[in-house]
Amino acid sequence: MPEATTDARSSALGITLDEMLESGRAPTTDGNAIDITRFALSRAAADLLGAFAGACGPDRIVEVGCASGVSTLAMAQAAPESSLIVMDPKQDSHWKGAGRTAIERAGIGSRVDLRHERSDEALPDLIAEGTRTQFAFIDGWHMLDYVMMEALLVDRMLDVGGLILLHDLWMPALQQFASFWTTNRAYEPVTIRSGEIVNEPWQPEPEIGQREVLLCATTPELFRTELVPFVDRSILALRKTGEDERPWDAFEEYTRLA
Ligand SMILES: C[S@@+](CC[C@H](N)C(=O)[O-])C[C@H]1O[C@@H](n2cnc3c(N)ncnc32)[C@H](O)[C@@H]1O
Repeated sequence: MPEATTDARSSALGITLDEMLESGRAPTTDGNAIDITRFALSRAAADLLGAFAGACGPDRIVEVGCASGVSTLAMAQAAPESSLIVMDPKQDSHWKGAGRTAIERAGIGSRVDLRHERSDEALPDLIAEGTRTQFAFIDGWHMLDYVMMEALLVDRMLDVGGLILLHDLWMPALQQFASFWTTNRAYEPVTIRSGEIVNEPWQPEPEIGQREVLLCATTPELFRTELVPFVDRSILALRKTGEDERPWDAFEEYTRLA
């Protein structure tokens, strides 16, 4: 799995990201700091997200759910040529500007367009603006209807071959979404092998360590058998393999035995 270079790690971006991950706190605009341990990506998850961003090499990244900016900085660090559009309606209320502060401290303000809006407001605007993306990270309001809406809107902007990454695959809503989406839409689960994005399950490599996959009573059988091998650190990456060409009444059963 590709690592961020030494230069990137010792840059303002690398230092800001490391500080947040190591302290579990993020400076806010009022000069204080907030605890981010409950909601931010872990170091392992941030590294994995960065590995996908680095392997994909997107021109533009779209992120739903910036929060304190851990995931934003991890993607910006791993894909240094990219620009990012990130959204979070609670940036100034709940997060007290922590994401904005992290972006400024990291020195990537010119690359990041931070919108203080909900995904159902910001994503249609992006479509109307003609935005294209090759890499989207969805980590917002974790309900089936919200994730479905976000993926549908992101898909309108996503190039074929681009990736949608989802976080918190331990949650029933996310498992239902991934099962539906991979059976009904032209998307395939992918992992990284030798720096390449491949449609193959994770291999038990020592450096990856124990994969984190939590199942629940309502986990669809299809998710259990076909998608779990592609999940790590609660992250699942899906690659778009084509535009949506289904007939108007298409529906594939997605809770079935795989
Ligand atoms: C789990 S946190 C994201 C953590 C972040 N990715 C990180 O690594 O630091 C979820 C975020 O989604 C935001 N959110 C909630 N509803 C949203 C919506 N409808 N659209 C966009 N973001 C939303 C919340 O304000 C919260 O900051």
